[in-house]
Amino acid sequence: MKKTPLIQPVILAIATGALFHAAPPAAAAAAAQTHTLTVRADAPGKPISPDLFGIFFEDINYSADGGLYAELIQNRSFQYSPLDNPEWTAFSFWDLIKRGKASGGWALEAAAPLHPDNPHYLVLETTNPGDGFGVSNPGFDGIAVKAGETYDVSFFARQLYMDRRWARRDRIDTKPMPVTVRLETKDGEVLCEAPLQIETAGWKRFTATLVPARTDDNARFILLMKAAGGLALDEISLFPRNTFRNHPNGLRADLAQIIADMHPKFIRFPGGCLAHGNGLVNMYRWKDTIGPIEQRRGQPNIWRYHQSAGIGYFEYFQFCEDIGAKPLPILPAAVSCQNSDHQGGTGQQCIPMEDMPAYIQEVLDLIEWANGPVTSTWGAKRAAAGHPAPFNLEYIGIGNEDAITPGFKERFKMILEAVRQKHPEITVIGTVGPSPAGRDFDEGWKFARELRVPIVDEHYYEPPRWFLDNFHRYDGYDRAGPHVYIGEYAAHDAGRKSTLRSALAEAAYMTQLERNGDVVRLASYAPLLAKIGRTQWTPDLIYFTNTKVYPTINYHVQKLFATNSGDTYLETDINDSATAGTLATSAVRDSKTGDLILKLVNTGTAAQPLTIKLAGANAKSFAPEAALTVLTGDPAAENTPANPAPILPRTVQIQIAETFPYEAPPNSLTVIRLRTTP
Ligand code: AHR
Repeated sequence: MKKTPLIQPVILAIATGALFHAAPPAAAAAAAQTHTLTVRADAPGKPISPDLFGIFFEDINYSADGGLYAELIQNRSFQYSPLDNPEWTAFSFWDLIKRGKASGGWALEAAAPLHPDNPHYLVLETTNPGDGFGVSNPGFDGIAVKAGETYDVSFFARQLYMDRRWARRDRIDTKPMPVTVRLETKDGEVLCEAPLQIETAGWKRFTATLVPARTDDNARFILLMKAAGGLALDEISLFPRNTFRNHPNGLRADLAQIIADMHPKFIRFPGGCLAHGNGLVNMYRWKDTIGPIEQRRGQPNIWRYHQSAGIGYFEYFQFCEDIGAKPLPILPAAVSCQNSDHQGGTGQQCIPMEDMPAYIQEVLDLIEWANGPVTSTWGAKRAAAGHPAPFNLEYIGIGNEDAITPGFKERFKMILEAVRQKHPEITVIGTVGPSPAGRDFDEGWKFARELRVPIVDEHYYEPPRWFLDNFHRYDGYDRAGPHVYIGEYAAHDAGRKSTLRSALAEAAYMTQLERNGDVVRLASYAPLLAKIGRTQWTPDLIYFTNTKVYPTINYHVQKLFATNSGDTYLETDINDSATAGTLATSAVRDSKTGDLILKLVNTGTAAQPLTIKLAGANAKSFAPEAALTVLTGDPAAENTPANPAPILPRTVQIQIAETFPYEAPPNSLTVIRLRTTP
């Protein structure tokens, strides 16, 4: 560090062109008492979890189907049913088209399916194709397409032969069936189309490419038969070619990118309640979600829609790898959600004891699938899907905020012991109920201590005040274990809103997580995504439509912490009583870069003038310029679609020295990143 200049009050223009004052305006400085914040920059510090800030992904609020999963056709496999949603059938989101003198009908059949786990398919029969006979699909609230971009159509089909009495025979017709696939506007204007010839007696996959002439946010997919005859159809799919990292069966690029931008250290999936499911039949079983998409078993989504399993375990692991996050799968602890109401069923249901050996094997097989050599049974399946290298799975969660019942305990223990014995290298994460206190929490912790579970998963959704009042929650936790994964948390402001107030309460709390990063190993805000107009749960971190993405203020807090994390915690000597409990601070060092990162959260309504002292830093410790990022504004402010970005982080470069002044604005999070000199 340079000894000479102590502070340059106003330094560089920020990206937006505005200026940020590193030194307090004189009037404000006079008004409040200046405290000295000493950072033990020279101390070895306390090692903390390098994986602290990750994300929680669950298919809630149309996060996967209709969201992150880039598939544009809704109900592509004709598997929708009233079990998904009482108003749905296998025909939902499909319309029969008869234009001009077209005649014919449609039916749902299951006699000769593509795969037993995908039992239904559509039959179309026409005696006269007229000006157009076929089906249309509006996607998920319309299909958004862009001019000049490529869209890949695929479907499985087989011809159905009609005899002279118009009775159907399952053998090939003498002539191929001409078909047209197209994108149309809502009013029937053709945006693009492609012809195909279907000539097959058995199921076969057909593909076409569509490039719309103009952009339309509300298009329809159309498939038309151009001659009299019959067709069986299934797995009718439309994907943008431009998916995240261009993977086939991939993720929506803009949504995946905004998640990637957070640089989460891990991704928890597939839930949430979706993991343990609505009754035993609805548990998320990972083996049903891998392999060719037409062979995956879709099922009702506990949040009252349908899960196609189009994003399955392969896609989750691949996304983790793409963005450098560790996979954190949550497997059911062989019990269903305690709130299950499946077909009138009641509460938590347990896998029968005679089926437990097979279930435990399923858990062990996942580890082999993720990490095993290509010569192993399940490693070979991973390789067949295009990923011979292991995925390096380190963590496995068993259970999701389950009621801690005798049935749960017995099964959890069996699974834990089997994983411990066969895979001691895997860290098992247990569960301690849905709340930060109470019967399941206490029982869960007692049980976890008895079994010496390495990490347990705590969940809480509470008002902002709770987060501030619980600022010392983990200071007294037993370091000997179990350690903690805060698998779901969010500050819910009045009206379940995502305000700056809630974001700052989370930020203040997150400084505590860094301070206690030796015992709190992982933390993830929940839920991550929500499609506007299709939410079952608010608040969420990122809202979206078919064409736009709206990160909340809370998203920016999560991103600032995850992109400014460290692996060593450094003591700071200011205490909350000195600042009337409104200033939370933490300082971490990132050993990869050597950077020291200081976070200051001022939840008070007055500016907080500080003198920041880097104790023990020598003349060459840090570059004279540091990046200073501030998030501040009206505590009631929200980033909404109508006003998407009133509160954004702003970064400036400041000059620093061993001692420098800084005034933390009212209602603010500040991150100061000090770089070591090369
Ligand atoms: O995050 C939403 C839901 O909250 C999760 O599915 C569940 O685990 C919790 O109750």
